[in-house]
Amino acid sequence: MIAFVNIQAQRDAYREELEKAEKAVLDSGIYIGGPEVTALEAELSAYTGTNAVTCASGTDALTIALSALGVQPGDEVVVPDFTFIAPAECVARLGATPIFADIDPHTLQISPESVESLVGPLTRGIIAVNLFGQCAPYAELRQIGKSHGLWLLEDSAQAFGATQCGKQACTFGDMAITSFYPSKPLGCYGDGGAIFTANKELAQKARMLANHGSEERYLHKVAGMNSRLDALQAAVLRVKLAHLNAELKARKAIAERYNAFFANIEGLTPQQIADGNTSTYAQYTLLVDNRKDFVAALDQAGIPHCIHYPMPLHRQPCFAELAARYAENAADMASQKAVSLPMCAFTPIDEIIERLEKVF
Ligand SMILES: Cc1ncc(COP(=O)(O)O)c(C=O)c1O
Repeated sequence: MIAFVNIQAQRDAYREELEKAEKAVLDSGIYIGGPEVTALEAELSAYTGTNAVTCASGTDALTIALSALGVQPGDEVVVPDFTFIAPAECVARLGATPIFADIDPHTLQISPESVESLVGPLTRGIIAVNLFGQCAPYAELRQIGKSHGLWLLEDSAQAFGATQCGKQACTFGDMAITSFYPSKPLGCYGDGGAIFTANKELAQKARMLANHGSEERYLHKVAGMNSRLDALQAAVLRVKLAHLNAELKARKAIAERYNAFFANIEGLTPQQIADGNTSTYAQYTLLVDNRKDFVAALDQAGIPHCIHYPMPLHRQPCFAELAARYAENAADMASQKAVSLPMCAFTPIDEIIERLEKVF
């Protein structure tokens, strides 16, 4: 059976290194913090050229970053309408209001024009999501942020390792986050996340918030939270980080095979990768005019698929009281047309193309 993301094949490929690293942690007696977490943070900092602070998940990373940036009840934060719910959810959990910006219908990234049109007196910041693995349009977003005095938070949960004009993801916002959820391009064997910032004060604040608001044992400067990455997950991530660039190359080659196959088929277009961007291909996503028939053909061929995402955030029941201000938009179009296909460095692309050839 073809897997949507083949985490087992990846484990088999690095088994010796992983088991050695896992055993060393289990035998060390140090399970929270310690040398593996410190070493991972140094490696993540070196990879991105910024300061990395690990935590317990991408969602926690967003909450910590938003808190460090000073989000208060009553504030408005612009988020993309078409993405996983976490950015909007974290804004709402802090008592602020997510304002949903539309997307570009081709790249599926947050639209700077839409962001600009939504900025008002209560707007404090913008969360840009690097959707499906490529960076959002940061030149334009930074300009908007600068002209309105807004902070910019880069949600790179899906795009650790992507680049824009040669610059690493996780370096474009005042702060950035990523997720180490197992199926992410850099994933561990449980939940995990990280916060990134070039600003040392914000990094220190994030670290304090993630550790019960404490820098000194039993002295709590602010009400924080417990959000720590396990040493075991850090050890796993260190092994996988060493293979990440090779995996990103393999993902790109797989995406190119898909692109070449679908180029000859009417009624569908792959997500466009913007000029200057490289993608991690966290998802390989197509926009398909007749999704029902397309999905039926994939089922017939035994090719797994997912719909990322079936509903724009402004239509989610939890945001019902905000929905009235939004008209039908490109996020609606994407939610009706998007289909994601199997993608990871170990995806058996030859077999998938053979199966596709039988049904298209
Ligand atoms: C864009 C985006 N932001 C945030 C998250 C949250 O990450 P986590 O699952 O590690 O909490 C995800 C996870 O899917 C995501 O896709």
